[in-house]
Amino acid sequence: MDKLRTALLGATGMVGQRFVKLLENHEMFELSVLAASSASAGKKYRDAAHWCIEGGVPEEIGEMPVVRADLEDVKKEGSIDLVFSALPSEVARAVEAEFAKAGFPVVSDASAYRMEEDVPILIPEVNPEHLELVKKQAKRGWKSFILTNPNCTSNVLILTLKPLQDNFGIKRVMVSTMQSLSGAGWLGVPSMAILDNILPYIKNEEEKVEREALKIMGKFDGSKIIPADFKISASCHRVNVLEGHTEAVFIELGSKADINQVIKAMKDFRGRPQELNLPTAPKNPIIVRAEPDRPQPRLDRYAGNGMSVVVGRIRVDPVFGNGIKYVLVGHNTIRGAAGNAVLSAELAVKEGYI
Ligand SMILES: NC(=O)c1ccc[n+]([C@@H]2O[C@H](COP(=O)([O-])OP(=O)(O)OC[C@H]3O[C@@H](n4cnc5c(N)ncnc54)[C@H](OP(=O)(O)O)[C@@H]3O)[C@@H](O)[C@H]2O)c1
Repeated sequence: MDKLRTALLGATGMVGQRFVKLLENHEMFELSVLAASSASAGKKYRDAAHWCIEGGVPEEIGEMPVVRADLEDVKKEGSIDLVFSALPSEVARAVEAEFAKAGFPVVSDASAYRMEEDVPILIPEVNPEHLELVKKQAKRGWKSFILTNPNCTSNVLILTLKPLQDNFGIKRVMVSTMQSLSGAGWLGVPSMAILDNILPYIKNEEEKVEREALKIMGKFDGSKIIPADFKISASCHRVNVLEGHTEAVFIELGSKADINQVIKAMKDFRGRPQELNLPTAPKNPIIVRAEPDRPQPRLDRYAGNGMSVVVGRIRVDPVFGNGIKYVLVGHNTIRGAAGNAVLSAELAVKEGYI
């Protein structure tokens, strides 16, 4: 198969850089157009990008020009088959619709369309059947569609909830997060605010986690998604870690399970990407660690090339009936953003949507 030509919107930012790394030698996709704001347009990628991840800017991509993230400017760079978007949400709303309307599928990390009724929020291991929802977007008069990624915090949490929901049912979830600085983007959090400190508030984050989980874990009945009916409460905090979100999770299961059954359910969990052997699929979406002091972001965020979520300290919770609790670490810009989007695009290609 010829590689699909992709445009990357928001190429210079924190998530954009992850896309660049993941698409550098991808077997299905070729990075053909790099786009960002008008401040970056006209520069070479290596001069425009706020590069701050390991390994440096890939040689060839560094020489590519950056164009404005706008349909006409992107089309001038040549033909494209697919768009990845890592734009700020307020910009994404209009720009992504332009591309979808004109016939280019958009796989987006922005939140602009996540909660629209006809737009799936996809975690390929969790709800691959929701992909069919994109067909409903034809009613908007669009020739193609927008497919979204969850918020980074929801993404890594929901991967761990799925085997629990499937095996034991879930009644209530409480999660307390310790989120990394890269989650706030390049401009992010000022150093004077975060050094020697923890910020106990991330705007709109708790609401996103609470509503996205119920949509993603809901049932698609062929025409709409019926949200899952468990209760979920999140408390979100910014900590002085560069990459990798840590979350303390407390769950009331629907039925009694001993800890070994919970560990087994998580270890055995596989999804459609593993079945199809998709290029970005980790062998194990969840890795369970037995040591009492794991997971830790510095040690565990790159598990499965950043696509696995690492879970540890799985134990009984004495407050909830049928209660368990555990700690997880997931890479926010890989599994929580660019990596999940690339995996979704791989699935959409294999399933014939792109
Ligand atoms: N960081 C994460 O862990 C994470 C996880 C999941 C989802 N997300 C979502 O992914 C998106 C990108 O996040 P990020 O962390 O990569 O942000 P970021 O580091 O601030 O990067 C933003 C990107 O958007 C471009 N941009 C900004 N204003 C623009 C405009 N008016 N027109 C066109 N392009 C514009 C920037 O280009 P310039 O360099 O030219 O300004 C840059 O390429 C956001 O919607 C965010 O909510 C982020």
